[in-house]
Amino acid sequence: MERYTRHVLVCTGGFCSPDRRGRALYSKLAELLEREGLLFGPTRVKRSETPCLGVCADGPIVAVYPEGIWYAGVTPALLERIVVEHLRDGKVVAEAVFHRLAE
Ligand code: FES
Repeated sequence: MERYTRHVLVCTGGFCSPDRRGRALYSKLAELLEREGLLFGPTRVKRSETPCLGVCADGPIVAVYPEGIWYAGVTPALLERIVVEHLRDGKVVAEAVFHRLAE
């Protein structure tokens, strides 16, 4: 498997987001990663969709590893900020974070 720098998990389940907005987010994520040069090469970001991340409220939920940063209520606009500010520039979108791995 090709090396990657970060892994983004998008919940596409129906409990945290009853209308399953995570599905559209997951599709948009690929477009944004490609636009920002993060889909291939040395800065590649791996993406995965999952049916549940165990939160089941305030979704869609998006988690970014290895930092262990979890975002709630991710809209298309917030997803774009996560890709540009966090994944491309390395600056967490702090006001949208609801959980972090303990350091
Ligand atoms: S359904 Fe999204 S966190 Fe459980």
